[in-house]
Amino acid sequence: MTITDKRNRFDISTGICPISTEISTSGHLIIGGISTLELVKKYSTPLYVIDEETFSFRSNEYLNSLKKYYENSMILYAAKAFACTTIFKLSNNLGLGLDVVSGGEIFLALKADFNVKNIYFHGNNKSQDEIEFAIKNGIGKIVCDNFLELEMLQNCANKLNRSVDILIRLTPGIECHTHEYIKTGHLDSKFGFDLEYLDDVLSFIKNKGTNLNLKGYHAHIGSQIFELKPFQDTAEILLEQFDYTKKEYGIELNELDIGGGIGISYLNEDDPITIDEWAKTTTDFIKAKCKKLNLNLPKLICEPGRSLIGQSGVTLYTVGSIKQVPNGRKFISVDGGMADNPRPITYQAKYTAAVANKMNSTETLETVTIAGRYCETGDLIIKDIELPTVKAGDLIAVFSTGAYNYSMSSNYNMVPRPACVLVKNGKSNIIIQRETYEDLIKNQLIPKD
Ligand code: LLP
Repeated sequence: MTITDKRNRFDISTGICPISTEISTSGHLIIGGISTLELVKKYSTPLYVIDEETFSFRSNEYLNSLKKYYENSMILYAAKAFACTTIFKLSNNLGLGLDVVSGGEIFLALKADFNVKNIYFHGNNKSQDEIEFAIKNGIGKIVCDNFLELEMLQNCANKLNRSVDILIRLTPGIECHTHEYIKTGHLDSKFGFDLEYLDDVLSFIKNKGTNLNLKGYHAHIGSQIFELKPFQDTAEILLEQFDYTKKEYGIELNELDIGGGIGISYLNEDDPITIDEWAKTTTDFIKAKCKKLNLNLPKLICEPGRSLIGQSGVTLYTVGSIKQVPNGRKFISVDGGMADNPRPITYQAKYTAAVANKMNSTETLETVTIAGRYCETGDLIIKDIELPTVKAGDLIAVFSTGAYNYSMSSNYNMVPRPACVLVKNGKSNIIIQRETYEDLIKNQLIPKD
């Protein structure tokens, strides 16, 4: 066991915790005005907690910063980060649009009465059924990814006698510094049309795409980006294609969609760019570039997911078995893990945690590893974190779990998914129920013979 002489001074002001986070005098972690101990008493663990105030704050930061620097703009909430009816409703009410990538996300958006005009449908292998479903329901824009889709879009639109607004997704060939699996805009990516094929796309639209209205170009270069430059590089490449399209095909485009949002803090040492500096530098660049190319300023669209919902989420776990390996690690096992948060095992993602019932502890910290309950050696939520001594029954809070946790969760080992509770001003409401054993088997059938 490694003993350090550091004291537990958990800093709740670093952008890792929800903005409503407080610590009670008795050392309990409070989110949305409610003690996490109360939440656990009422809803049990593991429990996803979403702080409504943080989500609204981050959304308004994006909406207001962009409006301040660039009037004609729209922010889409990237549904894949956390797809849930209540969050869709909140997004719609805040004035966000929605980026969806499947028939299922469209279905959820319809259930949430989302304004369909503000929905953009992405995806690199949309099915005929999904395309028809989107067109029939009047989904605002379809972001076309490939030649098969271009044909399917024209055929479906023709069959349904509709005209469909589309954006074309381009692969700009930009490298950004993020995990290999969450990069998308580099060459040799499965997403979008390489620039070499733009003439073929435009010829198709001009000659065969009688039901398709090309509105603009889209690119998404990756997620969890801490630099400003890649956003400018993306805009630059797209605007150069606006210019080319106008000169060579006489088509004036009006929508510039620069993809996902900025990265967020998972660790104290993370230093993400701010929404305001992102908005200012990106829009300054776009205005200058449009002036240089003599283009009208297009509508600017951005689709953040992680930076809207990530910081709002905290996952609460109960500590169970504790194992000290002789001359090795101390493993603190909790009642969740890779099935409710697959990011550590998938991307070696790092997180910060605290002991939610011991936030004021001044005990000496020890280095421990928070392990999941799933049958995989790699199911470790946080390797080598310094915590006050914990015992079975203590409560672990893992921060910044709002994005790509619930939405990527599974039932591995036949464990029901946790519940999700929305908190605000001392009130809590379940927005996703805890799964039951019956839920786990409801689709399983035994053949009669
Ligand atoms: N737009 C498109 C077309 C995207 O593919 C994505 C994310 C976004 C927007 C939202 O990006 P964000 O603002 O959240 O960075 N599961 C991975 C992240 C995958 C991101 C996929 N696309 C993770 O947990 O890190």
